Parts: sequence; structure tokens; C-alpha cells
Amino acid sequence: MSANLLAIFYLVSGVLFILALRGLSSPETSRQGNLYGIIGMIIAISVTVISVGNFSIGFVYLIIFLIAGGTLGAFIAFKIPMTAMPELVAGFHSLVGLAAVFVAISAFLNPEIFNLGYPGDIKIASLVEMSLGAAIGAITFTGSIIAFLKLRGIMSGSPITFVGQHILNLALGIILIGLIFYLCKTQSENLFWSLILISFLVGILLIIPIGGADMPVVISMLNSYSGWAAAGIGFTLENTALIITGALVGSSGAILSYIMCKGMNRSFFNVILGGWGATDDTSSKKSSEQKPVKSGNADDAAFLMKNASSVIIVPGYGMAVAQAQHALKEMVDSLKKNGVKVSYAIHPVAGRMPGHMNVLLAEANVPYDEVFELEDINNDFANCDVAYVIGANDVTNPVAKTDPQSPIYGMPILDVEKSKSVLFVKRSLSPGYAGIDNDLFYRENTLMLFADAKKMTEEITKNL
Ligand code: TAP
Repeated sequence: MSANLLAIFYLVSGVLFILALRGLSSPETSRQGNLYGIIGMIIAISVTVISVGNFSIGFVYLIIFLIAGGTLGAFIAFKIPMTAMPELVAGFHSLVGLAAVFVAISAFLNPEIFNLGYPGDIKIASLVEMSLGAAIGAITFTGSIIAFLKLRGIMSGSPITFVGQHILNLALGIILIGLIFYLCKTQSENLFWSLILISFLVGILLIIPIGGADMPVVISMLNSYSGWAAAGIGFTLENTALIITGALVGSSGAILSYIMCKGMNRSFFNVILGGWGATDDTSSKKSSEQKPVKSGNADDAAFLMKNASSVIIVPGYGMAVAQAQHALKEMVDSLKKNGVKVSYAIHPVAGRMPGHMNVLLAEANVPYDEVFELEDINNDFANCDVAYVIGANDVTNPVAKTDPQSPIYGMPILDVEKSKSVLFVKRSLSPGYAGIDNDLFYRENTLMLFADAKKMTEEITKNL
């Protein structure tokens, strides 16, 4: 295949990736966006394979690895529950990072194959590109592994901090820049290996101090890093598809991180540089003292909601665990038949990944015009009769507004407490993701419905 034809196909796949991102920005167009992405990726992979052209042993390896990797990826994606999606994404990012490191090593050791010069005499621009690709790739690799371990619960989710952490990170950052500089001057293999090893260490050190509620930002930030690593390697390989795709992933990941930071009221730069989140949360954790709680059953909930004129549904992670979205839609349909006005309030970080609740509600065919973002519905709680909080916890916790020591302080929350009555469906008084007690459980206008979200919602529908 001629270089020009290859470039045109890469351009087409690049445009399809841009259309994919555009489509994914709204639930209505997300399927179409996914389709564009799939077509773009098929084109990019196919023309790359065809451009290799000759049926050498390398080509056979390429096909074997493509089939093995594709099958494994499809198998994992089919098996993984939606609630474990963030750790899956973290796992996949680690592979992107590692791939970037491997390509950089290969290009450094065999530059002639890539038209980059000869060992010890590599073009300076290529050295800079491969050093950046290797460093960002290595940081993404170990950083994503730490994020995976934290999300999976294998490692504690709390921030791990020590004295002098920031200074150490800064020093290592300066050392990395120095290593790249001297690598370009000396082309020393030892410096190249040191660069990779120190980058692995930086990846670990950057992510360990980040914990709890900041994890979603970390995942999206690592997504961004993996994109930049791929773009760096794209320059080394002179592969435009990799440069375009890497830049798209890098910039969209960075924008998503920024949007999430805004949603959680966190500083983007603090998260990016690591080290934020080590708050002393003891004050908000002192929950164990016995406080009176009002609890009810499905009958009580049905009575309250049937007599309401407006109900706002607040879904959270527990709805995803219980897979209660279909039961919820049925309950809402019954309420609507009773003349009750129902809307859904979605917090930007409800669940465990961006858009988690929107996807589940769309799966249950909830009309998009009944689903509102936090800023569009928060004022409505004051005029609402019942807030039905199904498996949500942190995103309703008013401590985010009142206690500067709390790990979620500053995060905008859904003001459910302003409703006349609040129904909390959850199995116990256990805390949510951030590990902190929620004062709303003990309020006068709260009724706790202790049960699995799906079972309770089905029971309520029966009673309606
Ligand atoms: P959480 O605060 O994590 O609370 C979920 C609640 O669901 C738990 O308190 C749990 O209580 C309940 N639950 C679990 N299984 C249930 C079931 N089968 N039936 C009924 N209830 C069940 O959830 P949230 O309010 O959605 O907040 C999200 C949290 O996750 C935030 O802290 C956010 O920062 C963090 N986070 C978000 C993301 C993104 S991007 N969305 C990614 C990672 C982390 P019981 O055990 O008592 O039932």
C-alpha cells in the first residue's frame, strides 16, 4: 500500500475517532459514536496490517498477537460487571503505557529499523520523542497498576503519604528532565534504562497519595497520560494514526479530568501532581455512636410517594450493584399513572465512573428528558415532596458543605435534605465510597428503607 493511500486511510480513521468522541458526549448519540469509533479502529488496524505487507515471521507474529489480544480483550469485556469498569479501564491503561515503553526500548536498541539513525547515533529529535514516550508510558504503567489495586481493594484506598513526598516527587521530576537532557548528549544506554526505572517509580509515587473520592479523576488522568505516551511513540514510529489517536485520548482525558475536578470541587493541578487527599477525616468518621434512625417498609414508602405531587429519584452506586434500574423504571411508571411528577437527579460522580447512572437509566429506557444534571435540578429539591435516594450516599452527604476536615469537603452535593421527605434505600447504615457517615440518615424528615435496592423497589411497585 502506498504511503499516500495509508495517510488517507489514517486521516479517515482520525475523523471517525473525532466523530466518536462527539457522539459519546450525549446518551442519545452514544451508540452512533461507538459505531464510528469501531469503524475507525477497524480501518486503522486493517491498513496498518496490510501496510506491513510481506508474509515474514514478524507478520505472522503480528496476526497471532492481534487475534490473541483481541480475543482476550473481548472475553474480559464481556465478563466484567459494569461496577468494575473503572478498574478494567485502569488495567487497560497500564497495557497502553507498557506498550509505549516496549516500543521505545525497541526503537532505542534498533534505531536503524525505524529509520532513526544508528545505535549511539540516534537523531536528537527522535531521542527526545522516545524518551518522553518511554517516561510517560512507564509512569502510566505503574500508576495504573496502583489505581487498579486500590479500586480492586487489594491495596488500601486511603491516601498513602509520608514526609517530604512533594519534594521527592519534584526532585524525581527534575532528575527525569536531566536524564533526558544527558541522554540526548551522550546516547548512553545506562541513562535510558535509568530513565525508565525512575519513571516506573514516579508512577507509583504519584498515585499512592491519592485516595477515596479522587480516584475517578486519577483514572481519567491516567487515560490522558496513556494518550500522550502513544502520541510520543507515534512520532518515533512516524505513524500519523498513533499521533492523532494519542492526541485525542490525551486531550479528551485531560478535559474529562478537568470536568470531574469541577464536579468534585478539586484543584486539577493538585490531583495531577499527586498528594492531595491526605485529609484527616477522623472527625467525619466518628459515626459509631448510636443515633436514632427512623426506618420503614415498602408500604410506608408507597404511601408517601402515592400522595406526593412530585418525586425526585437520586440513583447511586447501590442501584448499579442491585441492577435495580428496570424495577425503578416500573415504579416510576406506576407513580406517573398516579399523577405524580417524577424526575431523576444525576450527580456527576454518582456510581463508579462518569456517566454510570445515565447508562443504566438509558438501558431501562428512561426518557432522557426526565434525567437532569446536578446544576439543573438541585434547586427543585426545595419544592419536592419526596426524594427517593436509591443506593446513593456520598453524593447526598451535607458534610461536604459543612466540615472542612471531611475528605469530600467542597464536593457539590444533591440537596436531597431540602425535600419534605427523604427515602433512603440501602441495606444498612454503612458508609459509601468515601468511608464517611451520612448525617442525613438520622434526620427527622428521613425514612430509611433497609433492603436491597431492587427488592425494595419491586415491593414498592406492588404496594402502589
Ligand atoms: P456511595 O457513596 O459509594 O454509596 C453507595 C451506597 O450503596 C452504599 O452506602 C451502600 O450501602 C449502598 N448499596 C450497595 N449495594 C446495595 C444494594 N444492593 N442495594 C441497596 N443499596 C446498596 O455511592 P454514590 O452516592 O453513588 O457516590 C459515589 C462515590 O463513588 C463518590 O464518593 C465518588 O467520588 C466515588 N467514585 C465515583 C466515581 C465516578 S466517576 N462516578 C468513580 C470512583 C469513585 P449499604 O452497604 O448499606 O447497602
